[in-house]
Amino acid sequence: MHFHRRPSWHIPEREVTPERVFLDRRSVLAGLGFAGLAAASGLGLPGRASARPAGEAWTPKPPLDPAYADAGRAITPEAASGSYNNFYEFGTHKGIAEAAQALPSDPWTLRIEGMCAKAGEIGLEDLLAKMPVQERVYRHRCVEAWSMVVPWIGFPLADLVKWAEPTSGARYVRFETLVDEDSMPGIRQSWYPWPYVEGVTIEEALNPLPFMVTGVYGKVLPKQFGAPIRLHLPWKYGFKSAKSITRISFTDTQPVGFWEELQGSEYGFWANVNPEVPHRRWSQAQERVLGTGDEAPTQLYNGYGAEVAGLYAAMDLDKRALWF
Ligand code: MTE
Repeated sequence: MHFHRRPSWHIPEREVTPERVFLDRRSVLAGLGFAGLAAASGLGLPGRASARPAGEAWTPKPPLDPAYADAGRAITPEAASGSYNNFYEFGTHKGIAEAAQALPSDPWTLRIEGMCAKAGEIGLEDLLAKMPVQERVYRHRCVEAWSMVVPWIGFPLADLVKWAEPTSGARYVRFETLVDEDSMPGIRQSWYPWPYVEGVTIEEALNPLPFMVTGVYGKVLPKQFGAPIRLHLPWKYGFKSAKSITRISFTDTQPVGFWEELQGSEYGFWANVNPEVPHRRWSQAQERVLGTGDEAPTQLYNGYGAEVAGLYAAMDLDKRALWF
């Protein structure tokens, strides 16, 4: 355990939850080898519902996509990324990991809806069986000016979009996430516009980068990361990467995200990382690298311009257009 190696901007001690505190009993048993034993004897997988408990090892390990094997920076220790989370459904501070263990993530059904041929419900395990599950190391840049590098497990959003067969009129993909009164104390804060919603254009969704995440660090997605399925958009500010997704809609109307609805003058639809466009209340030129004492310069599109800059070529080149 490396909890003495705190980042220089000082996460308050009360917000740094040792991993062992929030590992549930099931995960502890898995850590002791119970899961492997049970799987080998055929006892561990009675049905799809219990096949992927959050935090257990992802087996067999999916292939690492060679195009995204190296994010140009060291991978952030899980002790740091797994104990410094934004997940407002569980609280407005970073130390929500323990509370998030109450999230009912297994079994999980996704509703696919709107302007597509495959509208309906699908169990997560059934969807995973159709998708090219792989591992990718991506950088993540939060709008609060901190960043991390995580080995994510999942599949390209583009594969899901192609499978869903959107109609020609569909222009956006909208993501809606879980609202569960029993486990999520944060949703009692009624001034927030629950549920957490985010969206991208169809062109953005079909880019190879957007990733539907179901695991990290070789494990089934731990709950505080947004179990059992979340989005990751590495060139956009982290608030676009919605956690614990329940609905994916194909629509001709631009979705209004959670933060955009709350404070549209500060959080826009595009939210592409841009060091030259400050947030109204702070600079975006630098970022604190989570798990280290380092600061690093922020890169346009978080360094993924080669992949995504073409998406915005026709937009007004006013830098603010990248933000709003
Ligand atoms: N998704 C939901 N449902 N609720 C949230 O509060 N926070 C967002 C995003 N997705 C959030 C969410 C923000 S602001 C960030 S930076 C990332 O999740 C944080 O992801 P992480 O905790 O895995 O670092």
